[in-house]
Amino acid sequence: MTDTVIEIRRDLHRHPELGFQEFRTSAKVAEFLRQSGLEPTEGIAVTGVTAEVRGDQPGPTLMLRADMDALPIEEETGLEFASQEPGKMHACGHDLHTAILLGTARILQAMKPSLKGTVKLIFQPAEEGPGGADPMIKEGVLSNVDYALGLHLWSDLPCGHVAISPGPVMAAADTFRVKIHGKGGHAAYPHESADPIVAAAALITAMQTLVSRNTSPFDSAVVSVTQIQGGSADNIIPERVEFSGTIRTFQPSTRAALVKRLHEMVPSLCQSYGTEGEFQFSEGYPALINDPVPCRWVAQAAEQMKLPLSAQATMGGEDMAYYLQKVPGAFFFLGAAPDQAERVFPHHHPKFELDERAVPLAMELFLRCVESCLK
Ligand code: NI
Repeated sequence: MTDTVIEIRRDLHRHPELGFQEFRTSAKVAEFLRQSGLEPTEGIAVTGVTAEVRGDQPGPTLMLRADMDALPIEEETGLEFASQEPGKMHACGHDLHTAILLGTARILQAMKPSLKGTVKLIFQPAEEGPGGADPMIKEGVLSNVDYALGLHLWSDLPCGHVAISPGPVMAAADTFRVKIHGKGGHAAYPHESADPIVAAAALITAMQTLVSRNTSPFDSAVVSVTQIQGGSADNIIPERVEFSGTIRTFQPSTRAALVKRLHEMVPSLCQSYGTEGEFQFSEGYPALINDPVPCRWVAQAAEQMKLPLSAQATMGGEDMAYYLQKVPGAFFFLGAAPDQAERVFPHHHPKFELDERAVPLAMELFLRCVESCLK
């Protein structure tokens, strides 16, 4: 199936679609599933597609999930199959995830007589946000599912390396916004103003202590300020400043403690600068927690295939987390870094590339996990 999968992948790569707009992609997915003898259900959470490979013998249901969406990035790879859609690019490998799951589905359909149980295939929209997993679950895709598996190809792992670990592996990805209201005025007479820029500078510096002073050294957390707006001229102290950013945590208790601390710190520190500060929190994807049993299937598959195996956790967010809140499952990484170091770029970079030699390895990993689950 490798050549077919690569052909599908390159077609999807030429025509990336953003979250909840994956109409062409999901139509291609459904068409391929039908050609493989499956009966897909379309239009779940706008563009989501599901299908089931029902084995001839009874057994558990294992869900395999792929994400289909691209990113609002102008591609600069110069690849022969580079994006033909201005300002859109598959810069996270979801084109490969989709194509790999399609190839896996066709192989599984041919294995029906020997399958003891069901494999449920899920092609979901909008992983990059606002999230397709949660709405698909609300539409019932998990109703008969016993276990779940998801794969992410990874550009900073050598091609063919597998990374999996039980427990928390991807972070809760929340966002926040801070609004500081001061008193504007002439920049030459600062004593007649309450400067929100100085308050913001002090507050952003103080926020660096949330992780270094308020979080256990044995736990992980990130607080990053990523946007700041305020002011309009060189000689005006502005009336207000706003800034926003992200909070990444693994443990719900750490998440709650950081949010509580920010609710305290923002108004009180701003007040000490004669300004008023408001903290707004917005909940994002939850932390992704792997179950040890499906982790063992993945590790065993990697060992059987003689692939290097390591543990990996990242502070990135991933909406696979929602499925794993409901059913035991595992999310694992397969290295797909290009061979030449100068072609390795991080995920979400305009020059992001993955090595297609990961394709048959990914399909084999999925198939061996199916074998372990439906044995
Ligand atoms: Ni991704």
